[in-house]
Amino acid sequence: MAAPPSLYLFAILVLFASAAALSLAHPQTHRHQFIIQATPVKRLCKTHNAITVNGQFPGPTLEINNGDTLIVNVINKAKYNVTIHWHGIRQLRTGWADGPEFVTQCPIRPGGSYTYRFTVQGQEGTLWWHAHSSWLRATVYGALIIHPKEGDSYPFPKPNREATLLMGEWWDANPIDVLRQATRTGAAPNVSDAYTFNGQPGDLYKCSSKDTIIVPIDSGETNLLRVVNSALNQALFFTVANHKLTVVGADASYTKPFTTSVLMLGPGQTTDVLISGNQVPARYYIAARAYQSAQNAPFGNTTTTAILNYKSAPCPAKKGSPTIKPIMPFLPAFNDTATVTAFSRKFRSPRPVPVPTKIDENLFFTVGLGLNNCPRNFKPSQCQGPNGTRFTASMNNVSFVLPSNISILQAFQQGIPGVVTSDFPANPPVKFDYTGNVSRSLFQPVPGTKGYRLKYGSTVQVVLQDTSIVTPENHPIHLHGYDFYIIAEGFGNFDPKKDTKKFNLVDPPLRNTVAVPVNGWAVIRFVADNPGAWIMHCHLDVHITWGLAMVFLVDNGVGHLQSIEAPPPDLPIC
Ligand code: C2O
Repeated sequence: MAAPPSLYLFAILVLFASAAALSLAHPQTHRHQFIIQATPVKRLCKTHNAITVNGQFPGPTLEINNGDTLIVNVINKAKYNVTIHWHGIRQLRTGWADGPEFVTQCPIRPGGSYTYRFTVQGQEGTLWWHAHSSWLRATVYGALIIHPKEGDSYPFPKPNREATLLMGEWWDANPIDVLRQATRTGAAPNVSDAYTFNGQPGDLYKCSSKDTIIVPIDSGETNLLRVVNSALNQALFFTVANHKLTVVGADASYTKPFTTSVLMLGPGQTTDVLISGNQVPARYYIAARAYQSAQNAPFGNTTTTAILNYKSAPCPAKKGSPTIKPIMPFLPAFNDTATVTAFSRKFRSPRPVPVPTKIDENLFFTVGLGLNNCPRNFKPSQCQGPNGTRFTASMNNVSFVLPSNISILQAFQQGIPGVVTSDFPANPPVKFDYTGNVSRSLFQPVPGTKGYRLKYGSTVQVVLQDTSIVTPENHPIHLHGYDFYIIAEGFGNFDPKKDTKKFNLVDPPLRNTVAVPVNGWAVIRFVADNPGAWIMHCHLDVHITWGLAMVFLVDNGVGHLQSIEAPPPDLPIC
């Protein structure tokens, strides 16, 4: 006997409804096309042909949920080689999609294309993407926002609104020419002409007022600000006039909430903060300017601003009425390291975390600058660093050199000799008073393409030790393919006897970039559970150019789930 038609209809409806509910909780795949192209962009009264993604500056914001997959087809219509890096994405087993040129892929040549495919696993918060080739990331960057899985919520009350503020640097020149000039002369590159929020310098710069970024808020609201330091070469302070900020996340990991009136972000770092509309309805400046820890080094001393605008604030500049200027915040002095230290010491994971305690690889890396003596066949115009030298930089006295005809990952995977050697030193080849008065004979590192080999699953500790060679400086050290725990930071030379006692093995913050204190050190730990070739470098781009980098070569484990995937068929070749 046939069932009445209404019963069929009901069954079909139930099926549909459950399918809809299922698909809600299901990870999604997001497809995007990134066209790399020259685009006229006018800033500081002048137009430059900037390299952009899809004609947008900054580039498109990607918004996904934890667990989703991104497929981004990058088409290079610019005249430069390009690659895109997904800063902070773990790229579990998908190292071919990481992006640093000559590390995990050959560059996408003009006219070429490459499709990056990867799945985000267990990361929530704010990351970003940027070009990882030459200095293209000056204009080729954007936000990558990872929301909790569908049905999951933030570990804090749902914000009324969210806004992303990408801090950047603008040159009133072609950034590639700025780099070329520095490479030719051996001197430090010209500093940028403006800092920016979402590509806009803001009210305090010429020809910039009408495009100043407005961030809306209303009385009684609590909003989420996602702050990213996408600047090329400058650590930045960030603050909002009259408002306290509650830090709830950094580098796409949640933190134990704490309040502060100022943030400091090294390039590469992100910080998520809550801000409450609890002040007199008005307009308040959001401002950022340099934290400059290096001595006697030129830097841009200007301030970028956006405006926090209460919806109920009296209208600003009506024709004929006097303009009410937004309220300007107090910013720390350029060299205010005490504020930076107080801020970075507040970071904790929200709860106890599984920090590795039995360490297989106990590493000690110096990070710092150097000077190369002028090579014999060079003209004086090519040696315009201090006292007729050329600037360089190194880790453990090795100044990192990228290969030029194959990627390190390909060479490592395919056992191609002569590209990368696995003899990167576990310790400084010469021990010296790293933060003291260093002998001039230790200023010149050795160039090389050296990796440090790690067994799958090994537990790693790295002490990152700043040196005072040329000048001490706060170096934002970024590791690809991993998040790490920052278990301690301090000043002077790391001393295992007394500093081991300071390790936080309970609830240290999990990050992908650590701002190593100027004239000090930081200790990080991670488990090498992601096979591939992973660059660790200073995120001040000028320092990568000079060689402040190394690579970890992480072996496959057992079986395909512990091995890197096969390279995609469209992986660019050199
Ligand atoms: Cu955001 Cu290798 O960097």
